[in-house]
Amino acid sequence: MFEQTARLIDLCRIYGLASLTKKPARYTHEVTRRCNLYCPHCYVYEFNPLYQHLDRQQIIKDVGEHELSLDEYETLFEREKAQGCRSLFLIGGEPTLRMDVVEFAYRFFGRNITLISNGLIKIPSDLKFPFAISIDGGKVIHDGIRGSGIWQRIFENYHNDHRVQLSCCLRKGTTDQIQSIIDDWLDTDVFGASFFFLTPPKGDASPTVLGEEREYAKRELHRVVDEYPHFVRMTHHLVDLLFEGNREECPVFRYTKWYDYQGKEINHCLLGINADCRLCGCISPLYLSILSHHWWKLVDKRMIDILTLPRDRKQCRRRGER
Ligand SMILES: C[S@@+](CC[C@H](N)C(=O)[O-])C[C@H]1O[C@@H](n2cnc3c(N)ncnc32)[C@H](O)[C@@H]1O
Ligand code: SF4
Ligand code: SF4
Repeated sequence: MFEQTARLIDLCRIYGLASLTKKPARYTHEVTRRCNLYCPHCYVYEFNPLYQHLDRQQIIKDVGEHELSLDEYETLFEREKAQGCRSLFLIGGEPTLRMDVVEFAYRFFGRNITLISNGLIKIPSDLKFPFAISIDGGKVIHDGIRGSGIWQRIFENYHNDHRVQLSCCLRKGTTDQIQSIIDDWLDTDVFGASFFFLTPPKGDASPTVLGEEREYAKRELHRVVDEYPHFVRMTHHLVDLLFEGNREECPVFRYTKWYDYQGKEINHCLLGINADCRLCGCISPLYLSILSHHWWKLVDKRMIDILTLPRDRKQCRRRGER
C-alpha cells in the first residue's frame, strides 16, 4: 500500500505539475536508432522521408555513428533534472542496445524511468523499474513479424519477470491474436498486457486494422477487459478512446518533451511527420487525454492500479478470473 501511494505521488508530481505549470516533466529519449530486429511497418525506419532510398543496414550504420556517448547522456540528464525533468521514457530503435544509458538513467531517476523493448536482451534484475515488452501475437504470428525463434527467446527472458507489461501492437490480420496472447502469458509472472493499433503512414492505411476487423477488435477488447481484470491492463473507457481516434491536438506535447538519437529536441512524436495522426493507434496519448479532459475517470480502482501497482511482485490472478 505504501509503495502504491508513493507511485501515485510520483505520478501527481510528473503529470499534475506539468498540467499546472505547462512545463513537461517527462522527457522521451530515442537513446538509439539502431535495432537488432527487422520488423515490417516499423515507423522508425519506414516513416522517415530521409530514409526512403536507404536499406535498414545503411540506416543503422549511419545512425550508429551519430549517437550520443554515455558521457554526453550523463551531462544531459543532469541538466534535465535541474530543469525539472522527473521521469524518462527511453525508446529506440532498440533501447537495450544502450544498456549503459539505461543503467545510468535508472541510477539518476530510479523507478520513474520506463522503456519499451523487443525483449531480446534481458534487462538486469537489479534495475527495478516498470517497462514494456512488445508482443505482436502468439508464437507463429509474432515470429512471422519479428523473426524465427524470437518469441521463445522473449518468453525465456521474461516469463517470470514482474516488471513487464506486454505491449501488443495489433495490425491487419492479427486481431484474432488477442486471446492467444492472453492464453500464452496469463499464468506467467508478467504484470499484464495492453493492446494498441499500428499507426499507418499518411496515404497508406492498409497495414492497420480497419472496417469489420476493427469492429471485431473492439468487441474482443471489451470482452477481455471484463474477463481478465487482473491481466488486461485497460479499462472500457480506454478501449473506447482507442476506437475514437485522434480528434484534436495530440496531448503528448503538453506532458512530454521529445529528443531524437542525437539529443536534438523534436516537435513531433517519434512516429514522425509522416504518421497519420487521424488513425493514430498509440496508447500513451489516450492516458494523457484522460488526464487532460476526463481526469475524473482516473478515480477508478482499476485505472489507479494500472498506473501505480508496484511491479516487484506477482499480481494475484487466476485463469479466466472475473
Ligand atoms: C518502435 S518500437 C521501439 C522499441 C522496441 N524496439 C520494440 O520493438 O518494442 C516501439 C513499439 O512501436 C511499435 N510500432 C512499430 N511500428 C509501429 C507503427 N507503425 N505504429 C504503431 N506502433 C508501431 C512496435 O511494435 C513496438 O511495440
Ligand atoms: S524491434 Fe522495435 S525498433 Fe526494431 S524494427 Fe521491430 S518495432 Fe522497430
Ligand atoms: S496522434 Fe500524437 S502520438 Fe499519435 S502519431 Fe500523432 S503526434 Fe504521434
